[in-house]
Amino acid sequence: MADAPLPTPSWPRIPRLVTLRSSLQAARDPVGNLDKLLAHYGDTVHLFLGGARPSVVTRDPALVQHILQKNHRRYHKSDLTHGLVRYLGKGLLTNEGADWLRQRRLIQPGFHRQRLAGLTRLMRQAADEWVQDLKLQLSDQKPVVELDAHAAMTQVAFRIVARSVFGDSLGEEQLTQLSDWLTAIQAFYVNTIRQPYLRPWHWARGNYGRHDQLARNLRELVRGAIARHEAALAAAPAGALPPNDLLQMLLDARYEDDGTAMSENQLLDELNILLIAGHETSANALAWAFALLAHHPEKQEKLAAEIARELPNGQAVEFEDLPRLPYALHVVQEAMRLYPPAWIIDRTATETDEFAGVPIAKGTIFSLYIYGLHHHPGLWPDAEVFNPERFAAGAAPAPPAYGYLPFGGGPRLCVGQQFALTELQLVLIQTLREFRVEPTEAPVPGMNPLITLRPAGELRLRFRRR
Ligand code: HEM
Repeated sequence: MADAPLPTPSWPRIPRLVTLRSSLQAARDPVGNLDKLLAHYGDTVHLFLGGARPSVVTRDPALVQHILQKNHRRYHKSDLTHGLVRYLGKGLLTNEGADWLRQRRLIQPGFHRQRLAGLTRLMRQAADEWVQDLKLQLSDQKPVVELDAHAAMTQVAFRIVARSVFGDSLGEEQLTQLSDWLTAIQAFYVNTIRQPYLRPWHWARGNYGRHDQLARNLRELVRGAIARHEAALAAAPAGALPPNDLLQMLLDARYEDDGTAMSENQLLDELNILLIAGHETSANALAWAFALLAHHPEKQEKLAAEIARELPNGQAVEFEDLPRLPYALHVVQEAMRLYPPAWIIDRTATETDEFAGVPIAKGTIFSLYIYGLHHHPGLWPDAEVFNPERFAAGAAPAPPAYGYLPFGGGPRLCVGQQFALTELQLVLIQTLREFRVEPTEAPVPGMNPLITLRPAGELRLRFRRR
């Protein structure tokens, strides 16, 4: 008698009924719900995200590496990311294939170390404005400022990325306008994804049209900034150095293949994408880092001591100083382990594939659960403990390969990784050298995982002059 065919290997399927039953809890606490399901069924499962979207969710480092790096050609971003094209255009984050590669090759050199060293001044300027603002709120009668650290860091991170991109070509009013429009577009887009059943209502209310108009306004504002930048360049005296901002880098860049520059439309797309990709992620990382330091005063004092030792006499921190402040980097790394701003990233299989004997059908959507990797008890000792020392050189065990991916991995690794690490360290250093961060009586808010991992509600902290 012939043997019965072996069943096709597959990952466990969580029945739709189970996800539907837990959908209320999933809506309230998506991260806690996913953690529970993965702990029960295994590191990779088929499930209906939000009760509706069939998806393979994984926190298996080997599968994540397969998708992001080893077999990346067979995977594109999913419709969730591509949907942003409508409002922001096809920039690095939303582009695919040969077009993406050509753009990546053009833009990446602008983020190299040498270039970053030049941008540090612009970053520090924005960080100093925030510290100055804090100081102005203090007086003899008021030695402590209490505020929502997430709101404050959103402003700081926006200023840093907008100044790094546009230099002086945007005034205060335009910066605020830019930030408001980007926030409104993003909030609307997230809403249409989270509550797809409201889409007909949005159509009927003209909300799509209104946000398309905002996107056009945004483009006009950015176009104006480019024009001002070019006019200033033309009016500069002969021999004057061009500004050292990212816009100038993009204007100077030439394609390897034909030596041409980017079209204006492509430039607008890339600028929009840099602003959106480089703003909320950094703001979240900073807000959570301050919260963790406030609740771990011994770690905070260790960092303050490093700063006082390496930057005596209040000298301004330069890019070249950062390697002497490794603990600042480890704090940032550990904060992003516990609270990865990009907590989940998506891919779709563009062709059939296979991983460890499991066939993958074309069109399968993967949710690479970065938060799950970073909290995996099998990958990290005391995974829930804030312990920046685990990132120190020579610490054992070393952070697991493809188990720590705050910036993603493979060819589509965040192009702004070094930019972000520099900015985060600068803001921490400039703040902590002047202020001690303390918790308030309010509990640390839970997480609100949208596109990025925000705090759910205000993240109130106290800043006391040292
Ligand atoms: C803490 C801050 C940041 C975090 C956690 C972060 C995280 C990420 C992640 C995870 C990806 C990969 C997404 C995927 O593979 O689906 C990514 C891509 C990207 N990031 Fe960041 N990012 C940060 C800051 C920045 C900054 C400051 C910029 C620019 C100034 C930036 C620009 C980009 C761009 C353009 C891409 C797309 C790259 C490509 O596909 O070629 N990011 N980021």
